[in-house]
Amino acid sequence: MRTRTLGSTGREVSEIGFGAWQIGADWGSVGEDEALATLHAAADAGVTFFDTADVYGDGRSERLVGRLLRERESEPITVATKMGRRLDQTVANYSPEHFREWNDRSRANLGLDTLPLVQLHCPPTDLYYHPEVFEDLEAMVAEGRIEAYGVSVERVEEALKAIEYPNVATVQIIFNPFRQRPAGVFFAEAERRGVGVIVRVPLASGLLSGRYTRDTTFGPDDHRTFNRHGESFDVGETFAGVPFEVGLDAVEELRPLVADGATLAQLALRWILMHDAVSTVIPGARSPDQARANAGAASLPPLADTTMTRIASVYVERIAPYVHQRW
Ligand SMILES: NC(=O)c1ccc[n+]([C@@H]2O[C@H](COP(=O)([O-])OP(=O)(O)OC[C@H]3O[C@@H](n4cnc5c(N)ncnc54)[C@H](OP(=O)(O)O)[C@@H]3O)[C@@H](O)[C@H]2O)c1
Repeated sequence: MRTRTLGSTGREVSEIGFGAWQIGADWGSVGEDEALATLHAAADAGVTFFDTADVYGDGRSERLVGRLLRERESEPITVATKMGRRLDQTVANYSPEHFREWNDRSRANLGLDTLPLVQLHCPPTDLYYHPEVFEDLEAMVAEGRIEAYGVSVERVEEALKAIEYPNVATVQIIFNPFRQRPAGVFFAEAERRGVGVIVRVPLASGLLSGRYTRDTTFGPDDHRTFNRHGESFDVGETFAGVPFEVGLDAVEELRPLVADGATLAQLALRWILMHDAVSTVIPGARSPDQARANAGAASLPPLADTTMTRIASVYVERIAPYVHQRW
């Protein structure tokens, strides 16, 4: 597994990481043993970057990642968590008191005194116009609570505003063959400033695996059922904001591009890694097999120019009208 530098944290992390939302909640149930086996399968395959959040299963995901850390103590694993969604996302709630309360909880869940990276969990756009919040994050670094901080954003404009704060080490953003806009101005600016880019929702919530059909249904406790239209959180987090049937049709145009021995999910991950601004990609996995297959995408050869061009045109023709100007 190749590594890339995670922005100004200076940490070397595997270019395929692991998203631990699935082992928290909102994706149907994943049992405790299966969740732990999935985490270990990723680590066995060379994954050294794990993304979680304090709200995934109300701390369950953090506690499981904490167990992984204890069980693989000697390994150079970097954990990133997030805070800011335990209360309503109003600017007033991003207070020094709440930050320290949330940080104490995450440190206990993960079993760490100092957290390597804490990301603000998709705060409202207005928060980026409050420099005192970022000054307080600096104070938390000085207090030894966190080593570095970053943001997770919905929109490109939020990412660009966030990195005007000089010590924002990383930005987590949705980027995949169905969400190509970050590759424009944002990636250039992130590279220029040495900001790490963590790519989430790389498989468009599984749509880019090519396994779903018009008859596919998801469980009632799966956001692919209950957030189809943004009922619980930003609709862009579910299938990357692409209407399900539109995505299914576009997937059929991508399928012929898959190389022998690879899968469509691996093609999507390899496409993301073709972009040098990306530090790590964090596909979510709900089984050891998925975790291993995702890590395997890092071993695929670079994609041909003709493949890159075709993926660009499928996006422009089929997907961009639904997403490009929204995020
Ligand atoms: N606001 C935020 O900051 C935020 C929001 C969203 C996500 N994230 C982070 O980003 C991570 C990744 O995003 P995501 O989980 O939303 O979406 P994703 O990675 O695009 O999709 C995950 C889904 O893809 C399918 N899948 C995964 N590996 C596969 C494989 N090898 N072959 C076939 N299908 C595969 C699984 O679907 P099935 O369940 O159908 O098997 C899985 O649940 C999350 O775990 C979380 O850490 C952060």
